[in-house]
Amino acid sequence: MQKVPFGNLGFDVSRFGIGTMRLPTIKHQDGTLSIDQEKAIAMIRRGIDGGVNYVDTAYGYHQGESEVVTGLALQDGYREKTLLTTKLPCWLVKEKADMDKLLDEQLEKLGTPYVDFYLLHSLSLDSYHRMKELDYPEFFERAIKDGRIRHAGFSFHDDKDAFLEIIDDYPWDMAQIQFNYLDDQTQATVDGLLYAGKKGIPVVIMEPLRGGALGFPPEEILEMMQNNHRKYSPAEWAFRYTAHYQQATTILSGVNTMEQLEENLRIFNHITPGNLDKDDLRFIAKVKETYLSRIAIGCTKCNYCMPCPQGVNIPRIFEIYNDSYRFDSPHYLKHQYQFVVRAESEGARCVRCGQCESVCPQQLPIMDTLETIEEMVKQP
Ligand SMILES: NC(=O)c1ccc[n+]([C@@H]2O[C@H](COP(=O)([O-])OP(=O)(O)OC[C@H]3O[C@@H](n4cnc5c(N)ncnc54)[C@H](OP(=O)(O)O)[C@@H]3O)[C@@H](O)[C@H]2O)c1
Repeated sequence: MQKVPFGNLGFDVSRFGIGTMRLPTIKHQDGTLSIDQEKAIAMIRRGIDGGVNYVDTAYGYHQGESEVVTGLALQDGYREKTLLTTKLPCWLVKEKADMDKLLDEQLEKLGTPYVDFYLLHSLSLDSYHRMKELDYPEFFERAIKDGRIRHAGFSFHDDKDAFLEIIDDYPWDMAQIQFNYLDDQTQATVDGLLYAGKKGIPVVIMEPLRGGALGFPPEEILEMMQNNHRKYSPAEWAFRYTAHYQQATTILSGVNTMEQLEENLRIFNHITPGNLDKDDLRFIAKVKETYLSRIAIGCTKCNYCMPCPQGVNIPRIFEIYNDSYRFDSPHYLKHQYQFVVRAESEGARCVRCGQCESVCPQQLPIMDTLETIEEMVKQP
């Protein structure tokens, strides 16, 4: 497994890191899910035996179970071989004392006296400003001094301007961003990645396969890949793109089968920064263009239709509809749709009042499309 220096921190890190947000699960009779501990522990240990030395978890993953299982996996000598990251759930921090309480609880669950990296989890500019008001730097300094954490960082889900403001505002030891060939112009963007690199801040990448979607492309994209002279799997194309950037120090993927893990270990054994040539990059750009041209409804998110008197979040529902079509994933539509409706309230459903269609500049058939989506998500 290739290892590279982690910025200027004085140690090397494997280019592939294990994410523990998508561990294998078991479904119980009452419909609830819990982590399949035996499989998950075997996979995490196999990764470390295969040369991975970076493991990422967080308070909320698997409803709090991920930290416990990660801690168990790191017993029997594995903790000493691993750089361990967990994250402060900023949304649960109501007052400053909560930062200490949460960190102590996490160390207890992980069964370790310290973590190598502690990140402010999932920052947007708003949540960052709130954490700043609560004086997170003082908390970090104290937790580093008393030995509970070694290094401080943040994980990020907002836009480029927010990323640049946050990264310039504190002497971070690392940053974690979402980055893959579909998202290189969204979130922190490729510019943000390169900027962090210029500052010497190591960047850990999450969602290199867009949560798994890029590993299973729709037929037309699969055909493009099969016809390419390189015989890479869809996952390998995506990993190669991310790993092409030397600023992407470590690339996390949340594997959930041993076969995927073995494939990823194999891939990362031979990919290096700058691994793609001009033709490869042109090919990936074409794949990206094909993904982006797969549109189910031409909503431009202008928001003219909002607010809907029924509380339906029309642009967000159309965004999900487009994503599920793009990735050929009805499962994604069902999963995300319920989430949006629940967030707005269960009553947030179209009653065909027509207000939205009367103002939509694209003249989209909004009501019929919302009805189609409702029918699709109801299908077993
Ligand atoms: N800080 C944050 O806000 C945040 C947010 C997201 C993630 N993360 C961290 O970043 C880690 C990585 O993100 P991610 O898990 O979303 O990574 P990802 O690589 O984009 O997605 C992982 C999924 O990709 C699929 N996969 C993995 N290897 C594959 C292969 N060889 N072939 C085909 N499919 C493959 C699996 O999906 P299937 O189950 O569909 O097979 C797996 O669950 C997470 O586990 C978590 O630790 C952090």
